[in-house]
Amino acid sequence: MVRLKCPSKGDKSMDVNEVLNLVRADVRAMKAYSSARSLTDGKALEGAKPVYFDANELPVEPFAGGTGLNRYESQQPPEVLNKLASLYKVEPANIMMTRGSDEAIDVIIRTFCQPGTEDTIINTPPTFGMYAQYAALNATPVHSVPLDPYSFALNKDEIIAAANGTNHVKVVFLCSPNNPTGTLVDQKDLIDVIQKSRAIVVVDEAYIEFCGEQKLLALLPFNPQLVLLRTMSKARGLAGARLGCAIGHKDVIALLRKVLPPYPMTRPSMDVALRALAPENQTQLDNVRKILIEERERMTLALNGSLDVDRVWPSATNFLLVQVKDSAKMMDKAANAGVILRDMSGLIPRAIRITLGLPHDNNRLLDAWGISVQSV
Ligand SMILES: Cc1ncc(COP(=O)(O)O)c(C=O)c1O
Repeated sequence: MVRLKCPSKGDKSMDVNEVLNLVRADVRAMKAYSSARSLTDGKALEGAKPVYFDANELPVEPFAGGTGLNRYESQQPPEVLNKLASLYKVEPANIMMTRGSDEAIDVIIRTFCQPGTEDTIINTPPTFGMYAQYAALNATPVHSVPLDPYSFALNKDEIIAAANGTNHVKVVFLCSPNNPTGTLVDQKDLIDVIQKSRAIVVVDEAYIEFCGEQKLLALLPFNPQLVLLRTMSKARGLAGARLGCAIGHKDVIALLRKVLPPYPMTRPSMDVALRALAPENQTQLDNVRKILIEERERMTLALNGSLDVDRVWPSATNFLLVQVKDSAKMMDKAANAGVILRDMSGLIPRAIRITLGLPHDNNRLLDAWGISVQSV
């Protein structure tokens, strides 16, 4: 992949036209699909209450008490979109809501990388597997720039050199705090990669609510190449409702929405998102988050005291990555006590990822691993 630096990839920071030039030419040229809902969305209709004969839907709810289930939702239902916009302090046009942030990853790759060509993404293993997975599904090569194997720090100079070495790198995927390491990427390194790469830089912030760092949103107005990923699946407790989003420059978001299917959002998931995002429920979720952060400290201390554990990486998330002496043995011990962990030894030697739960369940794991709960 190493080629001469391309003259069109100069040193000044990217403007929005340069960013839009990274989009697949066919996607840029393509007319957006106009769904029945997109033609009436936001339009004040004259006269009596309209009857909708435009989308081949059933005229009645599927059961008594159904609320709008027989109708397609708009692609970006405004009541939830507006809620997210005020949560992240951006305009609704800066957000694309998706079925989990997983779908945003897929849409970003398909928007920028022409399948079967040299259009490439960069990832930084060990990291979230779906960047490479969706790249493979889109016949897109992945150039990996591994994290430092001990500290998991970003190899920022190598990423910038790789992103700028050819015209082929379209998207750089960074994850902070990173999964599965739990580590926060140094903020200065992140900003350097965002500002010096001539490519889209996606920063996946799935776990950001579990740490204090939420500064990248403020960079969005000055960096049209930056796309942030957020999810309702982690700190907001909605993994089962499937709601995430990409946040970025409005022109980039408009192109991404063109690639997103016309009806990804469901009425039930919109209803539960509105409930979960209501202030009274946010207070309860904030309290759970505080408990998990305390548990992160307590469990780190407890696990560090075990002779079976070699290392617990500092975590900025709701999980811990632990290096043990014998991962198969420790996985078995936990499973025998009904505690299901994630074996990460395929990615990181002898590593196990532990999602943090409430104190009594965390104690079950300590118990299974023979660690005295009284010791902490
Ligand atoms: C770093 C990261 N990004 C994205 C996701 C996808 O989350 P969802 O599709 O539920 O929003 C996950 C899920 O584990 C994750 O760990």
